[in-house]
Formats: sequence, structure tokens, C-alpha cells
Amino acid sequence: MSKEKFTKKILCIGAGYVGGPTMAMIAARCPQYKVTVVDINEEKIKAWESNELPIFEPGLLDVVKEARGKNLFFSTELEKNIKDSEIIFVSVNTPTKTFGEGAGKSADLQYWEKCARDIRSASESDKIIVEKSTLPVKTAIAMERILNENERGLKFEVVSNPEFLAEGTAVKDLENPDRVLIGSKETESGLKARNEIVEIFSNWIPRDRLITSNLMSAELSKLVANSFLAQRISSINSISALCEKVDANVSEVSRAIGKDSRIGNKFLHASVGFGGSCFKKDILNLVYLCETFGLYEVAAYWESIVKMNEYQETRFVQTINKALFNTVTNKRIALFGFAFKANTSDTRESPAFYITKKLMEEKAHVVISDPKAIKNAKVDLKDFNNKIEYEIDPYKAAHQAHAIAIITEWDLYKELDYEKIYNNMERPAFIFDGRNILDHQKLFEIGFNVYPIGKPHLIHFNES
Ligand code: UDX
Ligand code: UDX
Repeated sequence: MSKEKFTKKILCIGAGYVGGPTMAMIAARCPQYKVTVVDINEEKIKAWESNELPIFEPGLLDVVKEARGKNLFFSTELEKNIKDSEIIFVSVNTPTKTFGEGAGKSADLQYWEKCARDIRSASESDKIIVEKSTLPVKTAIAMERILNENERGLKFEVVSNPEFLAEGTAVKDLENPDRVLIGSKETESGLKARNEIVEIFSNWIPRDRLITSNLMSAELSKLVANSFLAQRISSINSISALCEKVDANVSEVSRAIGKDSRIGNKFLHASVGFGGSCFKKDILNLVYLCETFGLYEVAAYWESIVKMNEYQETRFVQTINKALFNTVTNKRIALFGFAFKANTSDTRESPAFYITKKLMEEKAHVVISDPKAIKNAKVDLKDFNNKIEYEIDPYKAAHQAHAIAIITEWDLYKELDYEKIYNNMERPAFIFDGRNILDHQKLFEIGFNVYPIGKPHLIHFNES
């Protein structure tokens, strides 16, 4: 296929959870464009070229296969691909800074800025740069300054197009998003660049879902969307603690308030805590931004969402410890799930990590089970690896265990034969449902002592 056949040449730097699926969808829906994804990680690129993709995401392999080798290409060659492209999406990671000023809160922009410099030095023609990574407000302006300081007189226009896909449903979210947001400067060249990006998505997304705004609004909206979503979870989790004290049922409370169309019923599922690469990072980014502008009360308000999440994780471990007669030492505890949510292999910021760490500090014998995330769990827990058992089969993981803790809401955990599991466990047998996905009454009748989140505990003896 000759190059001329393609009406746009798109490059994406960063073949991670965001860059890979987004580009696969663009390529599959727009066969007239050439889409190339580059990454510094050679192993990852090889995996994108194989049938064992580097990330688990339902339906993704089919989308990749639709376009791969036709108009979707994966490569580690940065310079040549920068030269060849007209539009460059930047989707490299922007983790929370671990050093220097803003450590623990602000975003580490070193990879981001390196990309800007790489683009500048390799480019031989004008380009549109699309900020896909979530970044502090005004980063696009800074990037544009770096890019446009070039000796060749090249013109770069930076557009912000934050990604709202959620892991586990990435394909569905990309295929049929609630909205796509495209922010640009409101100058003639800014608007022209914005329209180019609008045109890409209008190949398969209705125009009324393509929202445009100024650059800063787009950058800020991403941080605010994630902060609002996380806020709902922390709000219902805070209420779950109260429910346990007053014998209320948090699921009933969620249902009752969620019926109010002004509140809505989504993201009101009480849990062991939220995880994922975005929520905590983005809230802390917002907090840092507010502090930078002296808005300390606003910063403290948003920071409390993260603190509430940490409290919920701590509370879960304390409940386990207290229920197991204040000692978990040498007790076999099976964690069902390590991924931060179901249908993903991603374990970044998973509550499972904190829970495992705390149980290990108490010298428990932790067994980790997960259908997709064991490989990542082993990397996360490398410091404990020789002490932790990994067992993909939940029946084997629970064999002779004192307790089971449900950490991830995988469907498979709802369908297990808990009678069989109970018969092979130590007595008394405990189950801590950190996702409220099981039939608690039935488990109690089997003989388990059951500890859901935000619901009365079902126990066979008097709790002191
Ligand atoms: C990342 C950010 O975490 C998120 O804030 C942003 O919205 C999108 O990009 P994600 O795709 O989940 O999200 O990150 P990750 O899976 O870590 O992918 C980033 C990729 O960039 C990695 O594969 C990494 O190897 C690559 N990378 C990083 C480069 O190719 N070049 C670099 O200089 C740095
Ligand atoms: C989130 C945003 O939803 C998405 O728009 C953005 O692009 C990236 O960040 P993601 O982190 O992939 O997506 O998953 P999400 O479904 O939002 O779940 C985040 C965490 O909240 C998970 O740990 C999940 O289990 C938890 N959660 C979610 C709850 O505990 N209760 C809920 O009601 C919903």
C-alpha cells in the first residue's frame, strides 16, 4: 500500500493503556489514515504486534486485528516516525513526582518534556501535537513554547484531547463515548488545528458529542471529571462506615439516593477503595494546582477524597484483623482479586497492594488469586515475593485458608461453589466482601462469618 493512499498520517508516542487502544480504534474506524504507535519499550511493541497484547482489555484484540498491518503500525523508531507524521498524539506517562518540589502531588513532566524536545529536533514540517496524557493546566502552552523555539521556522499547534476511557470497558468507551473533548487556542491557527482533530473523531462519533473548548478548560476538565468520580466513591465509602455502626445497608442507601435523577445511580458502589492509575494522581494534581494559586481551602477539600480512600483501605484491614481475633499471624488469607477493578490486568494503585502489605506486616500467609493480574501482582510485590503464594485457581487459594477477602469484583467470584470452598477451610471460616458482590445470607447459612462493606456483619458468635 503506497503512502499516498492515506489522507492523514498520525503518530502516537506511548503505547500504554491509553495510547494503544485509542490508536487502534482510530485506525479501525478510519482506514483512510495511517496510524503508527511508538514506544521506547521494545517488548511492549512486540506484544502489540502479536496476539498476546501487552494489556488485557475485552474486545481489544479484535479491533487491533482489524487494522494492524493495513493502516495501524507499531514501532520503536521515534525519529523517522516523527518526520513522517502530520499529527502527533502524546500519550506518555505522567506519574506523580517522587522528588523535589511538589513531590507526592504534582505531575512528573520529564517524559512529557522530552517528547516535546524529540519532536522539535526530528521534525521537518509543521505539525499538530495532541496532548492525550493528563497534565497540569497550562502544560500545552509550555509545550508549544518549547516546540516553537526552533531554528527551522516550523510551526507547532498544541491541542488538548484528554482521554476519558475507563479500563475494562476501553473498547466500548472509545467506540461510543459520552463525549470527546478537544481544546485549543482560540486563534485562527488554533481553531484550524482543533477542526483537524474534530474531523478524526467525526468519522464514527456523532458531532453533538464532540465538545470543543479553550485549552485550559480541556486540561482542567480531565482533572475535574476524575476528581468528581472519585469524590462520589469516597462519599459513599464514608457512609458505608456509618452504615456498619447503625445497622443500615449501604446498598439500600445507594439505591435510594441514586433514584434521585439529580444524583444519579452511577459510581455509588461502596468498595474496599478506588484504585487505578488516574484517580489519586489526578486529584493530587488538582490539589497541587490549587495550592500553587494559594487556594488552600479548595486544595484541602479535594485532598480529603484521597484521605477518605486511604481510610477505607485501612478500615478493611482492621476489620479483618479484629474479626480474626486480633491476630492474622501465620493465618492463611486468600485474596480474591488483585487488579484495581474487574476486566483488567492493571494493578496500578490497587487497594490490593496496600492490603497485602499490611497483612504481610502482621506476618499473615497471603495467597493471591486473580484471573489476569498475577503477573503484575508479582512485579508490584517483588519485595515480598518469596513469602507470598500466587494461585490462579480460587479453590486452591482458599484451601485450608482462615479467611477470604474479595478485592476485585470479577464475575467468576460470584459463581464459585462456596459450599465446597467452606468445606476445605479452617474453622471458623471468614469472608470479607470488599466489593459486596456475593450473596451474604447464603454464605452465612453455609457457615461463613460474613463481613460485607457497609452492611451488618453476619456472624455465628457474639462480636465483642
Ligand atoms: C498515561 C498516563 O498515565 C496518563 O496520565 C495519561 O492520561 C495517558 O498516558 P497510560 O497509557 O495508562 O496513561 O500509561 P502507560 O500504560 O504507562 O503508558 C505510557 C507509555 O509511554 C509506556 O508504554 C512507556 O513505555 C511509554 N513512554 C514513556 C515512551 O514511549 N516514551 C517516554 O519517553 C516515556
Ligand atoms: C477512570 C475514569 O472513569 C476514566 O474516565 C478516566 O479516563 C480514567 O480514570 P478507570 O480508573 O480505568 O477510569 O476505572 P473506573 O471505572 O473509573 O474505576 C476506578 C476505581 O473506582 C476502581 O478501583 C473501581 O473499582 C472503583 N469504583 C468505581 C468503586 O469503588 N465504586 C464505584 O461505584 C465505581
